[in-house]
Amino acid sequence: MRVLVIGSGAREHALLLGLRRDPHIDFLAVAPGNAGTSAVAEQHEVDVTSAEAVTALARKLEVDLVIIGPEVPLVLGVADAVRAAGIACFGPSKDAARIEGSKAFAKDVMAAAGVRTAGSETVDNPAHLDAALDRFGPAAGQPAWVVKDDGLAAGKGVVVTDDRDMARAHAASLLDSGHPVLLESFLDGPEVSLFCLVDGATVVPLLPAQDFKRVADFDAGPNTGGMGAYSPLPWLPADVLSAIVSGVVEPVAAELVRRGCPFSGLLYAGLAITSNGPAVIEFNCRFGDPETQAVLALLESPLGQLLYSTATGTLADAGPLEWRDGYAVTVVVAAENYPGRPRVGDVITGSEAPGVLHAGTARRDDGAVVSSGGRVLSIVGTGADLVAAREEAYRIVSSIRLPGSHFRSDIALAAAEGRITLA
Ligand code: AMP
Ligand code: GLY
Repeated sequence: MRVLVIGSGAREHALLLGLRRDPHIDFLAVAPGNAGTSAVAEQHEVDVTSAEAVTALARKLEVDLVIIGPEVPLVLGVADAVRAAGIACFGPSKDAARIEGSKAFAKDVMAAAGVRTAGSETVDNPAHLDAALDRFGPAAGQPAWVVKDDGLAAGKGVVVTDDRDMARAHAASLLDSGHPVLLESFLDGPEVSLFCLVDGATVVPLLPAQDFKRVADFDAGPNTGGMGAYSPLPWLPADVLSAIVSGVVEPVAAELVRRGCPFSGLLYAGLAITSNGPAVIEFNCRFGDPETQAVLALLESPLGQLLYSTATGTLADAGPLEWRDGYAVTVVVAAENYPGRPRVGDVITGSEAPGVLHAGTARRDDGAVVSSGGRVLSIVGTGADLVAAREEAYRIVSSIRLPGSHFRSDIALAAAEGRITLA
């Protein structure tokens, strides 16, 4: 099988490494990729937001399967164009991708499917903002305000705060730039990212993971795209996991079928496990980053076959997934000033080591690997338990040199110490 992966992050690097382990794959390409993915796959330039460009590249390379990593091309309908060209594509249609691209659509689908999520209100008129803020957060007896950009924001459009001025300022700046604001009730409890392969009504869950959204240790600082992850979750009971599949993901998949926009690809449920059970924080229409780097490190089933059967409507015949025993931990090394405008162009050393996945990296003309984005590297460690997996990940992190970079030192720490409990 010949495969083309679209994207340039550590998630795509992890997908490529997983695909390379699949004996069914004899040709692997990536576009646009990064300095690390060029060692794994044939690298091509492409504008990932252009349906014509992606389709033309897939035709030229004569691939059997296109895998689309990021949400932006999916929300723009690039998967529809690839399928219309007669090429199998892993990734949902533009209509189904609204589950991520429009929070209002996601809320509507969840309401129809009877799935628990945060109560919410959309504000599009600044004159209504103060009254709306009074109905949420500490003003309404909740621990914090949750203020979101209603559209795509790469994980950075959310402010969760008990400071009304901060909540108000974020909402006002979104409204100023013409973005509707979503105010949500606060969901308390440990978070779970559950990735499911979905082909219409068929749902096959991968191992659950947890993401670390805040930039600094012990959840200080602003939200980011994700600073680390681990998988699986030793504190999540099997019955809660199956309740998420049967009570959240399957009903949403069925509702999308009923609406005439069946989901095909990876449906990512982000949940909080509250004292009243799981509640959805968000859905994404693609693999999550950095959780994918941990989850795929443990997958033993052939990844290419699985994604191909999802893309071609035969997931129900794929059989149970096989996983390696043990745990995986991902630590993100970020550039100075991330999640603000990152400093770029610094030389990175140590990035060729095993377990180092590339994201914001580029190769300079002289061959040096330099930083080119906010999240620069994802370091993956595995081990028999979380203590061992953490040790391996942080040992590799300490061998990397990137001026001004930062990382969290507490990824998976609370879970490794048995400090995560369900209410
Ligand atoms: P999102 O981009 O919607 O995933 O939000 C980013 C992060 O903000 C989530 O992972 C949560 O940590 C936090 N968050 C979002 N919505 C809520 C909510 N309703 N209650 C509590 N925390 C939330
Ligand atoms: N890890 C969060 C995301 O991929 O959206």
